[in-house]
Amino acid sequence: MKQILRLLLSELAQPVHYLVAVCVGIIFTLLRTQGSDSPLIPFVVPFFVSVASRYSARLQSRKPVKVEAQHRGLVREFQNEILGQFRNDELIETADEQLAELVLQGGYSAVLFAQRHDDGTVTGFVYKRIDGAAVLRSDPVTIEPETHAPVFQSRELGRAVYAEERDFSRPSDFQKAFPVAQDVRSFIGTRVHNLVTYHAGPTSIVAFNKASGIHDTDLIFIESAVDAAHGLFTTLEAVQDLDTRFMQAIHGLCASAEFSDEITGAHIWRVNRYAGELATRLSDDTRFRRNISQVAAAHDIGKVAIPDLVQLPRTFTPEEWLRMQMHTVYGAQILDQMIQIGKQSDPRLCLAREIAVNHHQRWDGKGYPGLKGPDGTLVALTSRAPQDYASLQALKGPEISLAARIVSICDCYDALRSERPYKAGFDHETAVQLVRRDDRTGAGGVDRFGPDVYEAFMDSTGMFHDIFDEVRSSTGSTPG
Ligand SMILES: [Fe+2]
Ligand SMILES: [Fe+2]
Repeated sequence: MKQILRLLLSELAQPVHYLVAVCVGIIFTLLRTQGSDSPLIPFVVPFFVSVASRYSARLQSRKPVKVEAQHRGLVREFQNEILGQFRNDELIETADEQLAELVLQGGYSAVLFAQRHDDGTVTGFVYKRIDGAAVLRSDPVTIEPETHAPVFQSRELGRAVYAEERDFSRPSDFQKAFPVAQDVRSFIGTRVHNLVTYHAGPTSIVAFNKASGIHDTDLIFIESAVDAAHGLFTTLEAVQDLDTRFMQAIHGLCASAEFSDEITGAHIWRVNRYAGELATRLSDDTRFRRNISQVAAAHDIGKVAIPDLVQLPRTFTPEEWLRMQMHTVYGAQILDQMIQIGKQSDPRLCLAREIAVNHHQRWDGKGYPGLKGPDGTLVALTSRAPQDYASLQALKGPEISLAARIVSICDCYDALRSERPYKAGFDHETAVQLVRRDDRTGAGGVDRFGPDVYEAFMDSTGMFHDIFDEVRSSTGSTPG
């Protein structure tokens, strides 16, 4: 009897069922007071049945449509946010955290991510929202074998599964059917009264305690949220894989250009690191910062075209010096060929080309190569002959891109610090002093790199020192 009463009460909590019950009550009262042959009955019964069914349909459709729209909005927002950070390494590392955030936005108080290991043990992490905003992650939790059921049920059934304590005759029956691991319960901090469980790839996901109770639309939400996230993260992993291949190709080019000077490749890593850090101080464009940290080291790839000069153990004759300057143009020409392969120009290759051709330009206009004709227009880099550029003007001041000037100062500092077959490396202080004012030419840092880049360098010399030491020790290189 108690159970029937509880069932009745829970049914009446639904507005649709409440309305039907009221109608049945009115009809029942009419039958009692006026008898089944009352002339009102043929009108009243169809009227109430029609009203009840109309409202029932409207109520049944209104709430799920609203909830579904909210859920779709959350998933769409999540997808946009992830796609907005498309090339972010941290994204993959924090994939679980991002997905947890999305599930918690669906109204749950906590969510568990669990995985079975080769030895059969199951561990995971629980996330919950604290202070209404921040998401807190537990220490690793262990899911004991007797509490595996709720974690793996969706995998066995191939769909999301939910359970509500109120659907069971006794709370203990709910706990028996869906036992929650001790570690998980302690972290959640409150009694579990409902849960939804689903899976993505090797991860099982259990969301706990939806305040407004769980409905069929919540299953659709969990399935679409988790499937969307899983699809996105799988795609991003593939993109990162492509990114790695891009880096391998670029690194190979840089290594071949620096081959005679570099054994460990440390110069390549360091120049990329310095440039990325300096770009962070000078630009708000996250894509630019990321791209320059990948291709800064490609500045000298044109040196592969002049191997005889790169290894020449004496100072250059005037003709040799002109040919040496052509490594900038050759680098751009090599990169042009790479750019033309793609249907769309890769922004990283375009940036690498810009850096390759202009990393020896100087703010005071005394750098190279000459690129401007008498009327100030830039020439196309079609010729390989040094004499075709000899009479042209070099770029000056803000005509030189920020990227080229950043790489210029980074390459300068690292070249001064590095030991070469023909020279010892300077210590940090001497290298900074030489960037400030070149002893041989008397040129100051501002004249060469521009005021913004020079100041950013001077503000962050400690960072340069740290990166030099860090990358030297991690590669085993021993420049002086
Ligand atoms: Fe160079
Ligand atoms: Fe270099």
